[in-house]
Amino acid sequence: MKVHNVDLTISAVRPEQYPQEGYPEVALSGRSNVGKSSLINTLINRNGYARTSSQPGKTQTLNFYDIESQLYFVDVPGYGYAKVSQKEREKWGRMIETYFAERSELRGVISLVDARHEPTQLDKQMIDFLHYYDLPILVVGTKIDKVPKNKRNQRLSVIRKGLNLRPEDDVILFSSVDKTGKEQVWEWIDQYLVQ
Ligand code: GTP
Ligand code: MG
Repeated sequence: MKVHNVDLTISAVRPEQYPQEGYPEVALSGRSNVGKSSLINTLINRNGYARTSSQPGKTQTLNFYDIESQLYFVDVPGYGYAKVSQKEREKWGRMIETYFAERSELRGVISLVDARHEPTQLDKQMIDFLHYYDLPILVVGTKIDKVPKNKRNQRLSVIRKGLNLRPEDDVILFSSVDKTGKEQVWEWIDQYLVQ
């Protein structure tokens, strides 16, 4: 998809606040600071459109980005930020559970992990959760520009193993700095839009 028009349509917590147009949705999840907003900005060719955060863990709403009035990217607030209170964590859990379990417009989930490191326990829990709801999953290993080229294949298997991925789950290595993987991510998205 060639993107010219994008609009932050709505920030929502409860289902009544979700957009009503019925466009298909692709959600992005991952720990705080992993590069979700940067991925959105790269996909839509805009620097600084989806806000890259100066205050990690502060965004606690689902942010729906209207892409060409054809789909929504749904930026899910990051998990794993230490300074978030237990009460806020529970609120976050309820919000994402409601969204992933009930949203019929949701076509697939892009789950981001930092390609430089072993996936964390929370990354694994997120994948288990997405498997439970039987959603199509693309795992994106971010910040791959920081990994030498001859070490990259090995990162793919570390991610697959660490997250206990199923054969049908896809993995793409990505960089918002040099745009590695950008076209592959769009191809993955496009295949779930034509349904
Ligand atoms: P939250 O909104 O807090 O959950 O964070 P986020 O997942 O949206 O991360 P964000 O896109 O704000 O990026 C966090 C930091 O990582 C920023 O300083 C980015 O510049 C940096 N970053 C993101 N992607 C990449 C990448 O591919 N390569 C490198 N080198 N840095 C990246
Ligand atoms: Mg963000």
